[in-house]
Amino acid sequence: MSAKKHNWFEKRVMPGQLDYSGKILASFKDRVRGRVLDFGCGVGAMMECMRTQTPAAPVGVDIAHNNLWSSPFVRFDGERLPFQDGSFDLVTEIFVLHHSPILEKNFAEMVRVAKNELVLVEDVWTNKQNRWWLHRNHVIFDAFMVLLTWLGLAEWKTNFKYYFRDRDQWLELFRRHGLHVLEDRELHLGPGDIVLHRVFVVAKSPPAAA
Ligand SMILES: C[S@@+](CC[C@H](N)C(=O)[O-])C[C@H]1O[C@@H](n2cnc3c(N)ncnc32)[C@H](O)[C@@H]1O
Repeated sequence: MSAKKHNWFEKRVMPGQLDYSGKILASFKDRVRGRVLDFGCGVGAMMECMRTQTPAAPVGVDIAHNNLWSSPFVRFDGERLPFQDGSFDLVTEIFVLHHSPILEKNFAEMVRVAKNELVLVEDVWTNKQNRWWLHRNHVIFDAFMVLLTWLGLAEWKTNFKYYFRDRDQWLELFRRHGLHVLEDRELHLGPGDIVLHRVFVVAKSPPAAA
């Protein structure tokens, strides 16, 4: 990454990103330990929060390189994750899968490299209106990021297509992959929330009996 790009992000984006990712991390922090893969890590703020607030060693993977911090980062082709089966104690994805036209395939790869648990934080629509808002907000944000990319200040890949799901569609995805749902709850990130966020914790093994 060029120094120019880094400096721009450092000044404008970094402090807000850390606060925001910190709030999200608080919703599943007790699960974060060992080797963690953050799928679609973006600027890497979640990895930085994990690195400084938990005992975990995060690794980031993304189709674009915007990582600003020191955690290891791997750029990949968007399909096959370059890691062995079961090589991560936890796999996370924060607002990523709804960008993928091959969501099912990406998710299968995330499941493959996870030892057991995965955390998904997603925008989940509940009616036509908030589904429309989700779409509109993403178009605006992506257009802004495309402009930054054009200016040489970021690397953003988008086809302006989104694959948002409602809660039942996410649960159905987990069922198809033979996963157990350990947690499924709302996440409130502030007054700007127009659409519900949800945190899903899923696992290959059933929850231990109490
Ligand atoms: C909204 S950003 C979220 C970034 C980060 N997870 C966060 O919460 O700050 C979406 C990210 O997903 C990445 N992405 C999109 N499609 C992807 C794919 N098929 N595989 C991995 N990453 C992808 C984008 O490059 C971008 O960094």
